[in-house]
Amino acid sequence: MKRNWDNLGIFLCGAGILLVTILVYAGQFQPEWKGYQKQFRAMVLEKYGAARAQQVPSGPQQIWAKDLNRVDRCTTCHLAVGWKGFEDAPEPFRTHDHAILEKHPIETYGCTSCHGGQGYATDLDSAHATALANWEQPLLGKDVSETYAVSDWHMMMQMNCNECHRYDRKTPGAEAINEAKALVDQKGCRACHTINGRGGVIGPDLTYEGDKSTEQHDYSRLLGVQSEFGWHVAHFMEPTAMSPGTVMPAFGFTSHQAEVLSLLVMSWKRNPVPMQFMHGVKLGDFPTPEEIAKEKQMETGEGAFFVKHTCFVCHSVSTLGIESATNIGPDLANAVTDVPARFGRPLDDFLMSPTGTMSVVLATQIHLSPEERREAIAKLKIANQLLVQQQAKTGRGKKE
Ligand code: HEC
Ligand code: HEC
Ligand code: HEC
Ligand code: HEC
Ligand code: HEC
Repeated sequence: MKRNWDNLGIFLCGAGILLVTILVYAGQFQPEWKGYQKQFRAMVLEKYGAARAQQVPSGPQQIWAKDLNRVDRCTTCHLAVGWKGFEDAPEPFRTHDHAILEKHPIETYGCTSCHGGQGYATDLDSAHATALANWEQPLLGKDVSETYAVSDWHMMMQMNCNECHRYDRKTPGAEAINEAKALVDQKGCRACHTINGRGGVIGPDLTYEGDKSTEQHDYSRLLGVQSEFGWHVAHFMEPTAMSPGTVMPAFGFTSHQAEVLSLLVMSWKRNPVPMQFMHGVKLGDFPTPEEIAKEKQMETGEGAFFVKHTCFVCHSVSTLGIESATNIGPDLANAVTDVPARFGRPLDDFLMSPTGTMSVVLATQIHLSPEERREAIAKLKIANQLLVQQQAKTGRGKKE
C-alpha cells in the first residue's frame, strides 16, 4: 500500500516538471511582442480593412543603422511608427511625430540614438531597460525620469540630441538644452571652465564632462538616489554642498535650471557618433561677432590692462569703460574702499597676497608679476578717483 503512494508521488512530480517545461517553451514561442502585433493587426483591420491588415509585418522587426553601429528592434512592438491614422492610439501603437523623423530617417538613425534603450532586445523590460541602474542603456523616458526625479521626462532625451547637436547654439525641439546653453553664456561658466577648447582653467575642463564615470564624484554628501544626474543637480544648486571649499559660485539656480544644466554637461561626450552625424558645418565653438567687437573696443583706453589680463571675464571696472558679461566678481571701480571693508586689509596688500577666489584665480589662471600687480593697483586707484568724482557730481554715494 505504502509503495503505491510513493509511486503516485513520483508520477505527480514528473508530471509537474513536464508541465513547467511545456509552459516555458510555450512562453518562448509566444513572446509578448506577438500579442502586440496581433493587437495592431486587429486595429488596422478595423480602420483600413483586410488588405492593409495583411501588410502589418509579423515576426521580429529590426532596423540596422549601419553608420551608427546600431541594431534596433523597437519596431517589433512599435509597429505604428510610420503609419498614418494612429496619432491618438496608446503606446506602442502610436504614429511617430513626423517632423523629427523627416530630419532623421529611421533607416539611418534607428531609435536608440535619440531614445536610448537596448535596441537588440525584444521584451519590454530589457528593451526599455527600466530595471538597470545603468546610465548608458535605459530608455530616456518615464521610468528613468521617475527614478532620478527629473521633473519632465520629455527633457531626458534631449541629452542624446545634444550628443550630435553640441555645436548648435540652439536646436529646435531641444528646448531644455537650449535653455542650459543660454545659461552657460549668461553666467559666464567659461570664466573658470574650458568648454570646447575655450575658457579658463580655475575649474575642470568640461568639454568631455559626460564621459566621467559615476565613480569619479564623491557621493557621500548626496541625499536620495546616487546618480551622476543627482550629483550635478545638487552641485549646481549649492556647489559647496558637494565640493566643500570650492570657489564655484552658487548662482541661485531654480531646480529646473539645475536639471537642464545637468543634462547639458552630461551630454558632452567624446566622439559619441561618426563625424558626419555631428550637426553644424563649423566644427567648433567660437565667440560671437558681438563678443569679439566688444573686446576690441575695450582693448584700447584706460582699462586695457583688465582686458589684456582677462580680469574683465569676471569683473567690470565701470569707470574705466570695462564691462563684464558675467559679473562673477564685484565691480572693481569700488575696490579701493570695498576691499578693506570686505577683507579687513588694504587693496595693495590684498592683491599682493589674495585670499578666497582671487587666490585661486591668480594661482591657476592669471599669472601677474609683482610689477603687474602694482600696475593693477595703480589703475584701480584711478578707477576709484573717477568714481568719487562722479559721485560728487551727482551727489550720490555720500556716507551717511
Ligand atoms: C531623431 C530623434 C528620434 C528618433 C531617431 C526616434 N525618435 Fe521617437 N521621438 C522623438 C521625439 C522628439 C519624440 C517626441 C517626444 C515629445 O513628445 O516630446 C518622440 C516620441 C516617441 C514616442 C512617444 C513618446 C511620447 O511622447 O509619449 C515613442 C513611443 C517613440 N518616439 C518611439 C520611437 C521608435 C520606436 C523609434 C525608432 C523607429 C524612434 N522613436 C525614433 C525623437 C526620435
Ligand atoms: C515588447 C514590446 C516593446 C518593445 C520591444 C519596445 N517597446 Fe517601447 N513601449 C512598449 C509599450 C507596451 C509601451 C507603453 C507602456 C509603457 O510605457 O511601458 C511603450 C512605450 C514607449 C515609450 C513611451 C515613453 C515611456 O517612457 O514609456 C517610448 C519612448 C518607447 N516605448 C520607446 C522604445 C524604444 C526606443 C524601444 C527600443 C529600444 C522600445 N520602446 C521597445 C512596448 C515595447
Ligand atoms: C546621431 C546624431 C543626431 C541625433 C541623436 C539627433 N540629431 Fe538632429 N540632426 C543631426 C544631423 C546630422 C542633422 C542634419 C541633417 C541634414 O541636414 O540632412 C540634424 C538635423 C536636425 C534638425 C534640422 C536642423 C537644420 O538645420 O535643418 C533639427 C531641428 C534637429 N536635428 C533636432 C534634433 C532633436 C530635437 C534631436 C533629439 C530628439 C536630434 N536632432 C537628435 C544629427 C542628430
Ligand atoms: C569662479 C569659478 C567658477 C565658475 C564661474 C563656475 N565654476 Fe564650475 N567649478 C569650479 C571649480 C573650482 C570646480 C571644481 C570643484 C567643484 O566640484 O566645485 C567646478 C566644478 C564644476 C563641475 C563639476 C566638474 C567635475 O566633474 O568635477 C561642473 C559640471 C561645473 N563646475 C559646471 C559649471 C557651470 C555650468 C558653470 C556656469 C553656470 C560653472 N561651473 C561656473 C569653478 C567655477
Ligand atoms: C574667474 C573669475 C575672476 C577673474 C578672472 C578675476 N577675478 Fe577678481 N574676484 C573674483 C571674485 C568672485 C571676487 C570676489 C571675492 C571672493 O569671492 O573671494 C573677486 C575679487 C577681487 C577683488 C576684490 C574686490 C572687492 O571689491 O572686494 C579684486 C581687487 C580683484 N578681484 C581683482 C582682480 C584682478 C586685478 C583680476 C585680473 C588680473 C581679477 N580679479 C580676475 C573673480 C575673478
